[in-house]
Amino acid sequence: TPTINNICCVGAGYVGGPTCAVIANKNPHIDVTVVDLSQARIDAWNSSHLPIYEPGLQDVVELPRDGSDVRRPNLFFSTDVRGAIARADLIFISVNTPTKTVGVGAGRASDIAYVEAAARQIAEVSTTDKIIVEKSTVPCGTAQSLRGIFEAIADPSVHFEVLSNPEFLAEGTAINDLLSPDRILIGSETTDEALRAACALADLYAAWIPRERIVTVNIWSSELAKLAANCLLAQRISSINSLSALCEATGANVDEISYAVGLDVRIGSKFLKASIGFGGSCFKKDVLNLVYMAETLHLPEVARYWKSVVDINDWQKDRFTGRIVSALNNTLADKKIAVLGLAYKRNTGDTRESPAIGCISQLIAENANVALYDPKVTNTQILRDLTLENGHESVNRHVTYCEDPYTACENAAALVILTEWDEFKTDKLLHVPPLNLGRTHILAPEPEPVAERASTASSVASSQSETASNDEVPQPNEDAGTPLTSVAGSPEPDFAEN
Ligand code: NAI
Repeated sequence: TPTINNICCVGAGYVGGPTCAVIANKNPHIDVTVVDLSQARIDAWNSSHLPIYEPGLQDVVELPRDGSDVRRPNLFFSTDVRGAIARADLIFISVNTPTKTVGVGAGRASDIAYVEAAARQIAEVSTTDKIIVEKSTVPCGTAQSLRGIFEAIADPSVHFEVLSNPEFLAEGTAINDLLSPDRILIGSETTDEALRAACALADLYAAWIPRERIVTVNIWSSELAKLAANCLLAQRISSINSLSALCEATGANVDEISYAVGLDVRIGSKFLKASIGFGGSCFKKDVLNLVYMAETLHLPEVARYWKSVVDINDWQKDRFTGRIVSALNNTLADKKIAVLGLAYKRNTGDTRESPAIGCISQLIAENANVALYDPKVTNTQILRDLTLENGHESVNRHVTYCEDPYTACENAAALVILTEWDEFKTDKLLHVPPLNLGRTHILAPEPEPVAERASTASSVASSQSETASNDEVPQPNEDAGTPLTSVAGSPEPDFAEN
């Protein structure tokens, strides 16, 4: 088995940063350098204001010593991409793989341009053998393309072994997920060299993860398993959301439905909380990636099946905004609407694909005055997102960012909760005396979850996409969504999250 002394991770994002921080933490004898093209992102990783909010992240990046925090001695963040590649024995490729916006497959296919650019750079710089690990979520077959790149442009005396090792962490619970994952998946070829490389990668994880949770499969299975996992998770959210519409039409209660069906062990309770729809950077793009793969493989029925998961999600988001408009006499003109929660789910500052952006944009289109608050999403971040959709002038005229939820809610005609942050569903906010809220409509989750009524102590009203149910503490999973809410007085709760 090759010895790993030095690791490089290309891409210091939501996956590369936390994953490598945990690997460095658990393998103190190995130097781990996370590199990125973005100077600002690297500067933030090297400062005390990390570029992403993730519970527990600071503790993994820093080493408490004499009361003051000091960086781990074997974890580095740098923009010297070439230098870090040259020194590394093993390289994680952890760059973004967004949906293509132009060209063949635009709107559905994954753009692997960043993965390819990273591979080319690795091929150009390397003078010693490397194990290349696909950490990014990629279309099935990408490992083969990477091999082609190394064969075409790298020094022929250097050996590259390409492995697939998709990441299953969920934002908001990334550190817990990394510290105790359900499984680590490693895909490789079956040559002796490939199996040895897979063994070296498995050893890194075995520093803290029981061997039986480290699963090795063929490389195609590994690539496809990541897409399959996200598609199945997204499908559960769309399934319960489609049922929420049936509940509204019939008088059934979607939380009761989730609870009742979730008790069936074949179904399970997680990811069954109705919501405004899923968001986050992964679910939509990964489902569309699978749709595109099915189309190119001449499987139109498969493509249609999975596409409907995204269609229901879009429909659910529109439906929610429609309910806000109809709850306020079909006109929002000049009414103040308080929006609490902008992140696509709780415990993250990430707004990528957040349902909040589309919802607020529709409120702006209705000429509402929107007051925003989120505990972790910054003013600049949300204004950038909204400006992209609505233009500068419109955002300036209709949107105010508030530093606390009470200011956002003061004299509002409606209060719309779009992220299931604990602070919105527990203590203070929903128990504010009517003083400030006046005749405000609260578009929020039901105060008492069905699980509590059904006797087990548990989840709070707007827990996220997963448990509407039993004795589990709700745990957000990857890309889980934003809480759906219900118009006060309406028979049943609504949205969840992403
Ligand atoms: P991100 O956008 O936060 O980070 C990617 C980083 O890669 C960016 O900072 C970018 O500047 C950098 N980068 C791009 N090309 C580069 C190059 N050639 N050299 C150096 N740096 C480069 O993306 P995120 O969210 O970390 O996702 C990365 C991959 O992991 C994606 O494929 C995603 O689908 C997958 N994934 C994401 C999860 C999530 O929760 N965000 C969970 C599991 C997988």
